[in-house]
Amino acid sequence: MAELTVVAPAKINLHLEVLGLRHDGFHELSMLMQTIDLADRLVLEPTADARLNLVCDRDDLPTDGSNLIVKAAELLRQRSGYPELGARMRLHKRIPIGAGLAGGSSNGAAALVGLNALWGLGLRDDALQGLAAELGSDMPFCLAGGAQLCFGRGEQLERLDPQPDEALGVLLIKHSASSVSTPWAYSRCRALRSDFYLAGEAEFEQRRQALRQSPLLDALRRQAPFPRLRNDLESVVAPELAPVRDGLALLQQCRAALAVAMSGSGPSLFALFGQRDDAAAAAAQLAPALEAGGFDCWVCSTTATGAQLEPR
Ligand code: C5P
Repeated sequence: MAELTVVAPAKINLHLEVLGLRHDGFHELSMLMQTIDLADRLVLEPTADARLNLVCDRDDLPTDGSNLIVKAAELLRQRSGYPELGARMRLHKRIPIGAGLAGGSSNGAAALVGLNALWGLGLRDDALQGLAAELGSDMPFCLAGGAQLCFGRGEQLERLDPQPDEALGVLLIKHSASSVSTPWAYSRCRALRSDFYLAGEAEFEQRRQALRQSPLLDALRRQAPFPRLRNDLESVVAPELAPVRDGLALLQQCRAALAVAMSGSGPSLFALFGQRDDAAAAAAQLAPALEAGGFDCWVCSTTATGAQLEPR
């Protein structure tokens, strides 16, 4: 087979609630995640020399065994039972790194989808989902995409049914010199918020049910105004990072914004709009202030798909 390309989209969190601590040391979460059309591209070529070689057009991203693409490739090959399988992999990085947009998880999900096709393994979606959950909490969502409720560590998905049928506009910003380590954000959360942690499954389930019935879901389907978005990590990260506080204040100036929040563990921030054009107009209006504040900015739309092969 000749080379193939996989599109690996970023995600934003429309809701991120930390419910409590799990027996495995991870946090029990209740989230609404949404893919957007800011995406990396992973180009794959097969080899039969048992080598998994990754290169990237950004030199500040490790391409060794610590990269989730390589981890995903190694796990898939090991489970396939064909140790001689190899691939040359080229990553075109557009999603900012360490930004709360699940760029690394999306790249790993892209590797699973792409190598499954490239190597002709024929694994079905549920088998790929199982491998994704072993590799990272956000990876199953990155495979599935669209708008999904994500529970457990983030790996238990409930797809919104029906999906929103119209895309929203998204203005995404990130301070160019800031990044946040996800383990650090969760450990800060534990230090500052553990008094608010719920204790058991019955209480967790109550909060999951509250999200299933939240006006946020109606807002996403354009049947209600957006409520204030909740991200429990925002309240622990923002006090530590001035660019998060400043960026939120800038986005809150956009009159047409339906809602504003931090994504994941940050420091990316976003504002939602009725249309992509409204997000573009807000970006133009804020451009001088964003540039002066050192923010990069992207105008995007919400999408209905996760990591997938690019049509030839
Ligand atoms: O699973 P993933 O590699 O994305 O998680 C990165 C880190 O974030 C974990 O090692 C853990 O410190 C923290 N985390 C957590 N609870 C979650 C997800 C992540 O504490 N549900």
